Amino acid sequence: MRKITKAVFPVAGMGTRFLPATKANPKEMMPVVDKPLIQYAVEEAVEAGITDMVFIIGRNKRAIPDHFDKAYELEAELAAKGKTELLRTVQEVIPKHINCIYIRQSEALGLGHAVLCAKPVVQDEPFAVLLADDLLDGNPPIVKQMVDVFDQQQCSVLGVENVPREQTGSYGIVSSEVIGHNLELVNGIVEKPAPAVAPSTLAVVGRYILTPRIFHHLEQVRPGAGGEIQLTDGIAALLHEERLLAYRFDGIRYDCGDKLGYLKAIVALGLKRPEFHDEFAAFLKTVV
Ligand code: UTP
Repeated sequence: MRKITKAVFPVAGMGTRFLPATKANPKEMMPVVDKPLIQYAVEEAVEAGITDMVFIIGRNKRAIPDHFDKAYELEAELAAKGKTELLRTVQEVIPKHINCIYIRQSEALGLGHAVLCAKPVVQDEPFAVLLADDLLDGNPPIVKQMVDVFDQQQCSVLGVENVPREQTGSYGIVSSEVIGHNLELVNGIVEKPAPAVAPSTLAVVGRYILTPRIFHHLEQVRPGAGGEIQLTDGIAALLHEERLLAYRFDGIRYDCGDKLGYLKAIVALGLKRPEFHDEFAAFLKTVV
């Protein structure tokens, strides 16, 4: 039985929907309350028992390795000033047993290409892919839910949710048949179909468990929608060879690559924080 120990975080995209904020700063470093998006995604992977975090980074993304590295000067400063609580916060950004591996995608050729860049590290193991700009709030965390599905089914699993039909052109859309609670057998997948031709409204969100055979297919994929090497096209080819499942996760998704989704995440997660829930809720009432 194969176990998921590696997670790939493609963070080399340009983040054009969030310009000018993403001109010099990675979109994955944008904070929701007090943590950057990438930290939420890494924590989700850690809670699923994953130990090796593989980041696919590009230009202007140095802040991501810096965030997960030890910050000697900052820690020394906080220790000297007796700010032990803050010191712990900084030291606990990533647990000690976790390995961080960084791979450069020298050109942003697409999500499929970014995932392919992880092949030398992932090699012949099944692995998770997390897109940090999709912030998923669930209990248990969504990747844990999907790893549990993988443990039982031993095949690739896509995180999916229904979207309004007018939005199918922003997602990979699956056609599938229900085989169990929250679980569907995928029989087709297409990237960004127009609403009129979309096979369903079941959209793939930023969580995947993939078998290593995906690398073989990504090596063959030619540029597709938007001129990019699409992960969806690799998955479509994988589908001819292997069983593939769509999992309707139990939780809420905030599309933080989009300005409105990001605002919703800040409000929802801000309200969940006991230390300022009451005051924040009262404030929101005064402005709405
Ligand atoms: P998006 O489609 O959200 O692209 O990529 P983007 O460039 O980040 O953002 P917009 O649409 O221009 O605003 C989905 C994920 O794939 C990564 C992105 O970092 C994001 O997490 N990605 C995309 C790469 O790592 N490399 C690529 O070449 C393309």
